Amino acid sequence: MIHGKARNVIITGTGHAVPTRVLSNFDLEKMVDTSDEWIRTRTGILRRRVADEHTATSDLAAQAGRLALKDAGVSPEELDLIIVATITPDMLFPSTSCLVQKNLEAWGAACYDLSAGCSGLIYGLDMAVHSIASGAYQRALVIGADCISKVLNFQDRSTCVLFGDGAGACLLEAADQAGVLASRLGADGRGWDKLLLRGGGSRHPASPATLAAGWHYIEMCGNDVFKFAVRIMVEASLQVLADAGLQPEDIDLFIPHQANIRIIESAAQRLNLTEDQVYVNLDEYGNTSAASIGIALDEAVRSGRIKGGDRVLLVGFGAGLTWGAMIIEWVEKA
Ligand code: UT7
Repeated sequence: MIHGKARNVIITGTGHAVPTRVLSNFDLEKMVDTSDEWIRTRTGILRRRVADEHTATSDLAAQAGRLALKDAGVSPEELDLIIVATITPDMLFPSTSCLVQKNLEAWGAACYDLSAGCSGLIYGLDMAVHSIASGAYQRALVIGADCISKVLNFQDRSTCVLFGDGAGACLLEAADQAGVLASRLGADGRGWDKLLLRGGGSRHPASPATLAAGWHYIEMCGNDVFKFAVRIMVEASLQVLADAGLQPEDIDLFIPHQANIRIIESAAQRLNLTEDQVYVNLDEYGNTSAASIGIALDEAVRSGRIKGGDRVLLVGFGAGLTWGAMIIEWVEKA
């Protein structure tokens, strides 16, 4: 049971959704001055999925959410909370979670969005765990979803090769069994300008000038984020392991945010994790931002890589700067 938690919380369903359109490194070679070799060796990414002009974040989020509900055997009317973690909402307001609620017809759910970059899913899970543990809510749907391709400058090779679109969802409910063992969130707003979308908000409202400056696109200091990621992945993992009274060798599956294979390998090595303890799918999807951990978790559960009793460590980092880590003792569905 985690600190301050009155009852246990488990994930009873998972789901994910990605667009059908595949954009390979070879496709990108034709669009910008890059190469498959550079992208593969510097990031580990081979291809990513990209949403078409009719698809927005709420569409993928609702698709993933519906699958998680089905997996859990819960109907939309039984939901009392929907949290969507995203940095690419359909629009500034209303919240993307309200659009998901409408799509799912989950009329009894309170809805809010959460902006924590690629740590978003873990932030959402943490919020839902505490909301359910307190007794205030019974069933929460947490979705990490982003269409980063919509805010990428496909002439900027330093960002456009890294990201893909997708959504990952988890259904959480109260339970007697172990479930979420420990959870930690953190942030350092001093790093606000390391990864951002400058325009379109109240600081720099959208205007011909912000468009001309390209402030509707993602900007990133790649090297600074890389150094932060390598450090924080290890620190956050060690903190949450200590909270749960566990060692790295007690972890059956480590699911890190899928940003760069070099970041994942460095963290795994410093945590003394073996290759088969680490889940990697960024070769297929690239960095799907708030969706990445949810997509990986759903794939791992559905492929049998996670079984009842397994201890799973989730860890993410992202814009803000933010980070989060969570350990779950997996409970097999009855
Ligand atoms: O979810 C959180 C989001 N962000 C991240 O996780 C990003 C973390 N950072 C990274 O993953 C890495 O810093 C990058 C993959 C973004 C960059 O890798 P790097 O090894 O740090 O490369 P670099 O930025 O130091 O660039 C090395 C060279 C540069 O050329 P010069 O100046 O050495 O001649 C770049 O211009 O690679 C060049 N370069 C490219 N070349 C071909 C940068 N992007 C590309 C590209 N294709 N796409």
